[in-house]
Amino acid sequence: MARLLCVGVGIELGAHLTPAAKKAIASSDVVLYAASDSLFEAWMAELHPQAHSLQSFYAPGKSRKTSYQEMTQFILQTLEQNTTVAAVFYGHPGVFVQPARLAMAAAIKQGHEAIMLPGISAEDCLYADLNIDPGRYGCQMYEASQFLFYQRNFDTAAYLILWQIALVGDQSHTRFQENKENVQLFVEYLQQHYPTEHEVIVYEARASYLDDLRKVTIPLAQLATVELTEKSTLVIPPATKMQRNKFFEQQQKNINNLTLIHSR
Ligand SMILES: C[S@@+](CC[C@H](N)C(=O)[O-])C[C@H]1O[C@@H](n2cnc3c(N)ncnc32)[C@H](O)[C@@H]1O
Repeated sequence: MARLLCVGVGIELGAHLTPAAKKAIASSDVVLYAASDSLFEAWMAELHPQAHSLQSFYAPGKSRKTSYQEMTQFILQTLEQNTTVAAVFYGHPGVFVQPARLAMAAAIKQGHEAIMLPGISAEDCLYADLNIDPGRYGCQMYEASQFLFYQRNFDTAAYLILWQIALVGDQSHTRFQENKENVQLFVEYLQQHYPTEHEVIVYEARASYLDDLRKVTIPLAQLATVELTEKSTLVIPPATKMQRNKFFEQQQKNINNLTLIHSR
């Protein structure tokens, strides 16, 4: 039985690496990582002499679903030949990372051990950078395309966070860049629930010390005029007031009335 460690290394290169993730990488026989960035590659090579990129499984026009299956097979093959393999993903490996989930499930099915080590995700950075406390009004999160394809009962009195906004509406799973027509369609859908002038935020956390934080606040109607990248997350602040829960208020009244009767 071998051991697969799915390791999250955070969003800001180098700065978010937890001691547990560092130890997991150092103690593995082989490190496989999913990132195209040359800085990331150099960093991985520094952390482990046997660090290999999974990037070649992606190709223009190729479905990401196929890439994920091939990555999973490769991770499994590597696991068969080693005692401990670290599969490294940026951010948190359990947050919107299909290949990590697929690889862990496949490893367990093959009788191996699979452990996930959390990392700082884009969500964690967002709460800090945008000064948002999810406990203030509540917070909902969806993958943007899923949110468009399915009917969701969401709450306009809470924050709404939409991941992978650049790829919204992509049914082919082959796109890596935004499609303005799809973004505009998404805006039109959102306008059924939010005022046209409601301000939304396109957010990108710093991915390395070379980057700046990106925060673009614009009226919803103008979302398609802003550049959306693979790092963009859309944040929609609450647009309506929280409504009192009538059920709870009625129950409170009933309890108060009973207390009054018993105290007479
Ligand atoms: C495949 S998911 C990976 C998320 C990652 N596992 C995490 O823990 O944050 C990619 C999406 O995460 C969000 N994301 C990734 N990097 C980001 C960054 N630097 N700032 C804001 N959001 C980011 C975007 O919504 C992007 O489309």
